[in-house]
Amino acid sequence: MKFVVTAGPTREHLDPVRFLSNPSTGKMGFAVARAAARAGHDVTLVAGPVALATPKGVARVDAVSARDVLAAVEAALAAVKDAPDGVALVMTAAVADWRPATCAAKKLKKSAMSGTLKLVRNPDVLKTVRAKTRTWKRKPVLVGFAAETGEPTAEAARKCREKGLAMVVANDVTQPGAGFGVDTNRVTFVLADGTLEPLPLMTKDAVARRIVEKCRTFGGGGGI
Ligand code: CTP
Repeated sequence: MKFVVTAGPTREHLDPVRFLSNPSTGKMGFAVARAAARAGHDVTLVAGPVALATPKGVARVDAVSARDVLAAVEAALAAVKDAPDGVALVMTAAVADWRPATCAAKKLKKSAMSGTLKLVRNPDVLKTVRAKTRTWKRKPVLVGFAAETGEPTAEAARKCREKGLAMVVANDVTQPGAGFGVDTNRVTFVLADGTLEPLPLMTKDAVARRIVEKCRTFGGGGGI
């Protein structure tokens, strides 16, 4: 299959030296890219600003903002559109939902700032891709992540429905051994029909292998 994987945070700049972001380190997404490449798949990794080395055999595209991620994902998917063995998009990236309404070309002086930051919504990458690939003969398999601080499976099921995904990988980032920056994760696969497949605490590499295997079972391009 062809895999497009996103990883890491986005940065939403308000000037060249300030941005809104989150603590994602990219470990989960890099693990998915590595696992897919090791399993023999073609992989494009769209990486936010992270300090990780590109896994062997993976084509990397760097992105900063949510809009960069969307553009890179759309380009990567367009390049593999008619792949006979199917396409999967695995969105582990912690994409910022909002960005500052304006980005100053030069560093803002505090005397010129009011103390109120006006934000505008970013595009939703999964929803945009879903809408744009609806007419494809072989729709891509769309997989989302839900890092939550409560009710992870219920929230994941909602996101799965609302974004029209094959699966959401749910995790509670407040649990020991799960979430940002660590090498392990405890996740539940939440499928489109509401089925829950909880996995035990395992390394992110092991979770990644399970995600790649699961994408193959969605039918090499069948989509939903
Ligand atoms: N996502 C996306 N585009 C965005 C925000 C998120 O494609 N602008 C993707 C993430 O990569 C993830 C999934 O959507 O795979 C769920 O992300 P999350 O931030 O948990 O969900 P939101 O849609 O932002 O929902 P909410 O703010 O209601 O929790």
